[in-house]
Amino acid sequence: MAPARRILFATSEAFPLSKTGGLGDVCGSLPAALRALGTDARVVLPAYRHALGRTSSARPVGAPFAVPGVEGPVRLLETALPGDVPVWLVDAPALYDRPGTPYHDPDGREHPDNALRFAALSRAVVAVAQGRAGLDWRPDLVHAHDWTVGLVPALLAREQPRPATVFTIHNLAHQGLFPADALGALELPPAWWSLHALEFYGKLSFIKGGLVYADWLTTVSPSYAREICRPEQGFGLDGLLRHRRDRLVGILNGADYSVWDPRGDDLIARCYGPDTFEDKAYNKRALQRLFGFADEPRTPLLAFVARLVGQKGVDLLADAMPALLARRAQVVVLGRGEQQFEAALLALASRHPGQLAVYAGYSEELAHRMTAGADAFLMPSRFEPCGLNQIYALRYGTVPIVRRTGGLADTVVDATEGNLATGEATGFHLGPPTVEALLGAVDRALALYRGDPAGWRRLALSGMDQDFSWERGARAYDDLYRGILTPQPPPPRPASARLRRMSPQTSGGPEPVGPHAPIAARV
Ligand code: ADP
Ligand code: GLC
Repeated sequence: MAPARRILFATSEAFPLSKTGGLGDVCGSLPAALRALGTDARVVLPAYRHALGRTSSARPVGAPFAVPGVEGPVRLLETALPGDVPVWLVDAPALYDRPGTPYHDPDGREHPDNALRFAALSRAVVAVAQGRAGLDWRPDLVHAHDWTVGLVPALLAREQPRPATVFTIHNLAHQGLFPADALGALELPPAWWSLHALEFYGKLSFIKGGLVYADWLTTVSPSYAREICRPEQGFGLDGLLRHRRDRLVGILNGADYSVWDPRGDDLIARCYGPDTFEDKAYNKRALQRLFGFADEPRTPLLAFVARLVGQKGVDLLADAMPALLARRAQVVVLGRGEQQFEAALLALASRHPGQLAVYAGYSEELAHRMTAGADAFLMPSRFEPCGLNQIYALRYGTVPIVRRTGGLADTVVDATEGNLATGEATGFHLGPPTVEALLGAVDRALALYRGDPAGWRRLALSGMDQDFSWERGARAYDDLYRGILTPQPPPPRPASARLRRMSPQTSGGPEPVGPHAPIAARV
């Protein structure tokens, strides 16, 4: 039997050790799904104070190593994620032993040394990859996720020999842009100050390290893979992505149903499944009581759970709120994020007690209870690379109302008359990102909810029937890794000189689409 492929995940979040959004969910569950397929996946993550607080088993391993800009040696602590996934925590207390999230202090300000914090994380990943951290394990391929580890493919491109590299774009809006002098301060190669490398309109761009230098690029849904190649969603990087589109694949995220399934969720008031759908009503009542709402079973209850940022259409939701409440719906909101959005939502809640409740903060428990207790789940995102909340909502029979974009379009089937008749419908789409379109979609949902309870139930059950488990997504990644790591016959046409320079390790490239076309697609 061939030895298992060794894959090293580089990430700034992995649930349950650290999570601010979907990146944490993906990096906390995909490695375990890969291991279930026989791949030896492991993870590198910073030893944040909050991450150390969530594990009791972390113990020093390997040999200390030096990282430019960090005083004293850096060492690794080993622990594990659920599914027996080995994790190495990069222990550099001056950088990571502090309160707050991975990116912000407790007052919501970015940590002032984020450039150094994430450059150091990337250097530590390279130390592991190149056997300089004293471990008896080296990866065949390093899979880096988002801008915080964008320097990994760029740094590895300077090494020979080196593992192959894959860079996943979870969100192109977050690019890790720093002032020009960061390049020198971080002791990075001066040659990187180029349009063809990490310079981006006068700033140092961490994400370009991944986009320019990784052997392969992936993003988290087929639709988003196409969208980021166009100026409207390209955030100034669409030209580069079009240039690399033969190395770009969209692979839909999966859900970890061991965490997100109402049949076995201990955070919710009462477990339920498709056969015990009536018990969902118990969760609704519990949520109504929790927020001091009248516990009316037939009043539609809508939930919104998200980072409170422009991406998520929070402004649309706030602007639509008076009209939404005038439709006699109850609304619950959970989110943490930009001050202006928190303030706007809290002000609305104070004007509509008993009908609108806003919890401005972060709570895993509440996220589960809201997903279980609501009738419908709102995601009017302006753009959404994949989105996990709508996938969770489907599993909980909580009908998603989503904007037709990115992964939302790839996972939710609009309740048109035709789709309802065939039983394919799973939610409601809104087209443009406008208050009118949002209210239009909500009106369609309320009409079905109020006018045809049996039809609503069928719609919710169709959602519960969907399978977005990681198995298929993990297989798609595994196929991609295998394609990259299997020596290819010479390509029919020579690759362009520029691509060869960027991707010295691969030639013809794998064909990752295969049987997974619905969830994975070349652009
Ligand atoms: P994104 O990664 O853009 O934030 P996703 O839909 O992919 O969006 O994932 C969001 C994840 O973060 C979900 O697991 C969601 O429940 C969680 N989440 C977002 N905001 C909060 C919050 N305030 N409290 C608890 N969980 C949250
Ligand atoms: C990002 C995206 C979200 C995606 C998540 C995990 O934060 O905003 O759409 O689901 O990453 O890939």
